[in-house]
Amino acid sequence: MPAKVAVFGTGLMGSAAAKRLKDKGFEVLLWDRTFEKAKKLASELGAKAFTSPAEAAGYAKYAIALVADDKALLRVAGTLGWSEGLIFINMSTVTPRAIDEIALYLKSVGACVVEAPLIGGPRVVEKGEAIALVGGPKECVDKGMEVVNAIASKVFKVGEEYGKAAALKLAFNNMLLAGLVSLVESLGIVEAYGIDRDLFKKVLESTFLSGVASRFFERVTADKVDTTFRAKLAAKDARYVSEAARGAGALPLLSDKVAEAYELMVYSGWGDEDYTSLLRFLRSLKRK
Ligand SMILES: NC(=O)c1ccc[n+]([C@@H]2O[C@H](COP(=O)([O-])OP(=O)(O)OC[C@H]3O[C@@H](n4cnc5c(N)ncnc54)[C@H](OP(=O)(O)O)[C@@H]3O)[C@@H](O)[C@H]2O)c1
Repeated sequence: MPAKVAVFGTGLMGSAAAKRLKDKGFEVLLWDRTFEKAKKLASELGAKAFTSPAEAAGYAKYAIALVADDKALLRVAGTLGWSEGLIFINMSTVTPRAIDEIALYLKSVGACVVEAPLIGGPRVVEKGEAIALVGGPKECVDKGMEVVNAIASKVFKVGEEYGKAAALKLAFNNMLLAGLVSLVESLGIVEAYGIDRDLFKKVLESTFLSGVASRFFERVTADKVDTTFRAKLAAKDARYVSEAARGAGALPLLSDKVAEAYELMVYSGWGDEDYTSLLRFLRSLKRK
């Protein structure tokens, strides 16, 4: 009998994870806040959709959460009643505080919590090539690795204390977003001075910044890109970086600025655009 995994959240990442788990032989039980979305994916995958997280978890050995933010995770975890033996794996990007809160609650209802935030977008997850940053008590982590290994080809274990994997993920995303925002700012300077932007790209490619160029240059300068990571979630991540830094006595230097740039996108109705659309967004403001 294939092991049953409840997948909470059938957005871009949750859908990709559900497909991957199905491919690896797990039975997936789907829940989404918007039932229609879970139902649609369920019919694609030949899986079952549920109207509450508790109902799906009731049949499952594992549950994974790939939901937007702290509020969503607390909502999902908070609706689970007695869940003896459930291995609950959070893969969403959330704050260390949110992990602490859900771990405390879920332990009280008999579940074992693993934190395993992911590096890599939906396409990478669907191929099982994500990077997972794993934390939590060893007995929970050991039990959850079957599912983590199905989604991630590389795993870094951060320790038993809850919140460290979440903090590591925020530290990573801080660099990712700061790299992208600084590329957008530099492109503005290059273009304002009438310098050929391909020349700028070649300069970057000749230096240690070649990774930033290959990762972002085409997507940032394209007229339109598919959304793989929503601007509203980049705004959330940058804000969480700033909060997590302040909460732990570290100094947020850039994250507030990055958050402001993405929050402006969100307030202007660009929240569901890809996070690499920042340059296009700034140009649309200039034209107004
Ligand atoms: N996309 C990426 O490249 C990427 C990479 C690494 C990590 N992540 C992280 O993975 C998580 C999921 O990202 P995604 O790209 O899949 O986002 P997404 O496509 O926007 O999906 C978000 C999911 O969260 C649900 N949700 C939002 N607010 C909720 C609430 N208050 N209560 C319950 N559910 C709620 C949504 O439900 P509805 O369907 O009802 O809206 C949807 O299922 C996020 O934490 C993100 O930061 C994303």
